[in-house]
Amino acid sequence: MRLEAQHLTKSYRRGQTHFNAVYNACFSLADGAFVSLIGRSGSGKTTLLNMAIGLLSPDSGEILVDGNNLFSLEDRQRSDFRNEKIGYIPQGRSLLGNLTALNNTRLPFHLQRRSGDSLQKARELFIQLGISHLENSYPKELSGGELRRVALARALINSPELILADEPTSDLDIDTAREIWELFSRLNAQGVSFLVATHDVELSRRGNAIWQMHSGRLTLEAG
Ligand SMILES: Nc1ncnc2c1ncn2[C@@H]1O[C@H](COP(=O)(O)OP(=O)(O)OP(=O)(O)O)[C@@H](O)[C@H]1O
Ligand SMILES: [Mg+2]
Repeated sequence: MRLEAQHLTKSYRRGQTHFNAVYNACFSLADGAFVSLIGRSGSGKTTLLNMAIGLLSPDSGEILVDGNNLFSLEDRQRSDFRNEKIGYIPQGRSLLGNLTALNNTRLPFHLQRRSGDSLQKARELFIQLGISHLENSYPKELSGGELRRVALARALINSPELILADEPTSDLDIDTAREIWELFSRLNAQGVSFLVATHDVELSRRGNAIWQMHSGRLTLEAG
């Protein structure tokens, strides 16, 4: 899958003034890429990621998925696209409080008709991520790093082509962070693409390109 952004702009209002959270961003993310998105807090990384997968509408500009305009799709088709192709690990807490860790992970599997066994798949992911003992815990009973790994399992349940991760290692200890890097590298070697917003220098070194946000402006560099 090729994901392209053309001249994306999104502005917000703060007090009496408008400012551009993202201004005129263009990129092309090829199959198998591993891109790190860096930039200071408030530079627009999350805003860019949310537009890239159609969760947030830009004020202007387009997102093309294999040449097709994402925002010309119906809401339902856009959700289906995300559910089938994208694994998103949002910044901050994103699990549903009334479901166990395991059922949070299984949920995206059941948003569409699929064959296979979500329970077995979720359990395999929990083993890989070292969180099997947390299957029946609820989000409020988990630490930041544990929540992050459950969100990662949830992002992987439908075997996505592209993973968008927003600060995936920000609340992890160094050993757990390293396991996440290894897992990302392994998945990337299997053909999964990555676009990862991160302050983690070691993680961004693993990528094959570094994109930088600076006050809403995106510049692309080779890694
Ligand atoms: N819904 C919103 N309404 C108004 N302003 C917003 C909104 N969402 C984001 N912003 C502002 O847009 C700018 C970019 O925010 P964004 O969350 O994209 O930054 P970021 O690079 O992800 O930062 P961080 O590294 O802290 O996560 C910030 O100044 C933020 O305050
Ligand atoms: Mg952010």
